[in-house]
Amino acid sequence: MADPDRFLTVADFEAAAAARMDAAAWDYYAGGAGNEHTIADNRHAWDRIRLRPRVLVDVSERNLSITVLGTRLAHPIVVAPTAAHGLAHEDAERATARGAAAADALYVLSTISTVPMETVAETPLGAPRWFQLYAPEDRTTCRDLVDRAVAAGYGGIVVTVDLPMPGNRERDRRNRFTVPLGVHLPADQPTGETGLVVLPTWTWSDLEWLRSVCPIPLIAKGILRSDDAERAFQAGCDGIWVSNHGGRQLDTSVTATAGLPEIADAVGGRTVIVADGGVRRGVDALKALALGADLVAVGRPVLWGLAVSGAVGVARVLEILRDELSLAMALAGCRTLDEITPDLLAST
Ligand code: FNR
Ligand code: LAC
Repeated sequence: MADPDRFLTVADFEAAAAARMDAAAWDYYAGGAGNEHTIADNRHAWDRIRLRPRVLVDVSERNLSITVLGTRLAHPIVVAPTAAHGLAHEDAERATARGAAAADALYVLSTISTVPMETVAETPLGAPRWFQLYAPEDRTTCRDLVDRAVAAGYGGIVVTVDLPMPGNRERDRRNRFTVPLGVHLPADQPTGETGLVVLPTWTWSDLEWLRSVCPIPLIAKGILRSDDAERAFQAGCDGIWVSNHGGRQLDTSVTATAGLPEIADAVGGRTVIVADGGVRRGVDALKALALGADLVAVGRPVLWGLAVSGAVGVARVLEILRDELSLAMALAGCRTLDEITPDLLAST
């Protein structure tokens, strides 16, 4: 097996994961909707931003820690929820949980997991975790998932609001690939052609209802506009997750780089802002933080680490991103996350 300690970059893991994974499972991970314009934009948007570093700051010590919704995190790199980790590794989400904990990263477990949330919560006990909710239409079933997450010690519910229906995943359709439904949803949960959940009836009033039955912090994931962010805040959400779902839902949606400024302007300081999509370098995370994010999440990179070497690979991917962010902070003249401010960004 490849020795992940010798991998220098997240891209090294991508290449190694592509080489070892089943082709259809790889396509499910790598692919997106339609022409995959948004996947390409997610990458290029970070690369296009130029930085204005500050000099002559004593950066010998950097502190990457942040307290979010009552939980202290060692750094702002977060594991985004992704489905069906059993496709990457036999230990599935158990390995992801161990790897995230080893790298001191917040892990957001997907509803569509191979391993139950209670098992993940114990590996190891007490590591920072949130549960991502694909809200089943039936409110009793939905509430049951929330109650289980609370009982198992999850510190937040991340409700995904950008998947009324699965996006047009043409790779999966060509491969006749079906995503396993996982262990949390009822067997009669409606699914589309590729096995992904169909949840078309959810509206703002359902979000308000969820708020009323959810006793822990609630984060709405998949918001790209300030008016929706404001509405989610008014509905009682504690966090806004700026995301186009890794380019897997509406092709040609804007990127987090485009959504962040208006959303940070509207609700920044009043809610926690998480951003994701195409983050592959610590310097990408620095830019997301400068644009107003409090936390920066990665989806596919974690799956690559998992496919290459389980928990060790997951930890290594997260440590690479953390260490690159720490170096980027030093070179930009930032000692703390608070010092990563919008003036670091060049207007192009
Ligand atoms: C996802 N994503 C996702 N989001 C979610 O809320 N629930 C889920 O179950 C999944 N499942 C999922 C599977 C796979 C294979 C991918 C690649 C993505 C979206 C995910 O949380 C995140 O928004 C993106 O992955 C971020 O983009 P990058 O980092 O993958 O470019
Ligand atoms: C996906 C779903 C599971 O993007 O969120 O594949």
